[in-house]
Amino acid sequence: MNSRLSVPLTVSTAAAIALGALSGLAQKKGSSPFPTGYRHWTHVKTMAIYGNQHPLFNHFGGLHNVYVNDAGLTSLKEGRAYPDGTVFVFDLFDIQSAQGAIETRGRKLVAVMEKNSKLNASTGGWAWEVFQGDEQKGSLQNAKPCVDCHASQKRVDYVFSTYTP
Ligand code: HEC
Repeated sequence: MNSRLSVPLTVSTAAAIALGALSGLAQKKGSSPFPTGYRHWTHVKTMAIYGNQHPLFNHFGGLHNVYVNDAGLTSLKEGRAYPDGTVFVFDLFDIQSAQGAIETRGRKLVAVMEKNSKLNASTGGWAWEVFQGDEQKGSLQNAKPCVDCHASQKRVDYVFSTYTP
């Protein structure tokens, strides 16, 4: 479906490290606040990761929607670097299948990237954050696994998603 997802073999390693990152407790300096109102932003794409043969299954299994705020929309359409103030949201839900339908259950997490190139020079210019379930307090302790995996998209400013008109 998407060749960008058959990213390097290092992906499983990165995903394994991400477990530690996702289960952290303290909020880190340079992290992003909860993206209030994101469900009314531009919906970028949807993807279901439902099989454990997928490298992201352990941590991002389920159905996710990606959103971008107005600040980042033009850059997304043009595939170029994002201005400070851009926020992307990865909104992940658990899924269950019943009688031929796949439906969402509870929210698993909300992952956020917020561009502020000066504050976050060491993490690709982005602040990285994770909100577990319906929590509005960030829990990410270490952004390195996020940055390392997203670095395969450096050419398009660390963003995997592309624009679908
Ligand atoms: C092992 C690789 C990997 C790791 C680790 C990873 N991501 Fe991602 N991330 C992806 C992929 C692949 C997508 C695109 C999903 C899609 O196409 O729907 C993505 C999408 C996103 C998006 C939507 C914008 C975009 O790039 O498309 C956000 C926000 C995001 N991730 C945040 C995070 C945060 C925060 C972390 C660390 C806690 C993280 N990611 C860790 C692979 C990864």
